Amino acid sequence: MARIVGGLGTSHVPSIGAALDKGLRDTPEWKPFFDGYVPAREWVREQRPDVAVVVFNDHFNALFLDRVPTFAVGCAAEYHPVDEGWGPRAIPPFPGASRFAWHLADTLVENRFDPEIIQEIKVDHGLQVPMELFWGRPADAWPVKVVPIFVNVLQYPIPLPARLYELGKTLRRAIESYDGDERFVVLGTGGLSHQLQGARAGFLNREADQRFLVDIAEDPDRLAGWSREQYVETFGGEGAEVVMWLVMRGALNREVVVRHRHYFAPASMTGAGMIVLEDA
Ligand code: DHB
Ligand code: FE
Repeated sequence: MARIVGGLGTSHVPSIGAALDKGLRDTPEWKPFFDGYVPAREWVREQRPDVAVVVFNDHFNALFLDRVPTFAVGCAAEYHPVDEGWGPRAIPPFPGASRFAWHLADTLVENRFDPEIIQEIKVDHGLQVPMELFWGRPADAWPVKVVPIFVNVLQYPIPLPARLYELGKTLRRAIESYDGDERFVVLGTGGLSHQLQGARAGFLNREADQRFLVDIAEDPDRLAGWSREQYVETFGGEGAEVVMWLVMRGALNREVVVRHRHYFAPASMTGAGMIVLEDA
């Protein structure tokens, strides 16, 4: 029977990928950040998930304002990394778990979520960076298949936090009703606090970030009850993308165990957080 081995939350700042590309992992600026992920990678190695469901947003790299799906499920056999302007990165394409992805799309529709179904798309730092943080950069092929769930967090109207939490619960139903025997891990990505433009450019809220890393484990219902505007006020215009962690959290039991937690700020202009959760 298919089952969830746990949930991972992480920031997905593009400069993390750039730091790895430039060999900056062990520089004084970056080492404390990357060292925080060592136990999480160990956890992933021990758990050996077969499929990673990655909840993230495209940042106008593969989708633009001409089409803005609120939710989209990737059903492709593989996903190439998109070139975000600095040239192609030396990472292999991500193999898709397309059979499960279709089952997920089915389950979502049956539960009154109606996602766009995407059969061809490239993936940006929102997926690339978390995969590399938790699995490391593979020499030739990724040891895990991915199912991308794209969430619109850029162009209003973005979905309600409560809806994302609910989406996570439906994702769990899809995994538990799947007729495979794969081990699943669910990734929620984005955040933590940052604002890249406008009057509050450079905004960081370390206190709220630290609190979020506690509450996402202990009190997700409270976080799911916040308004979208509360997220923008608390975490910044772009930091509000942290709502995507609620999908990961909704896929887990009400009671969870925190295996690992890490916070580092600023990474680029962002409060960078990470959490590893298992069902209690
Ligand atoms: C940055 C952070 C993000 O989460 C993102 O998607 C893009 C840029 C940043 O801090 O530079
Ligand atoms: Fe982002």
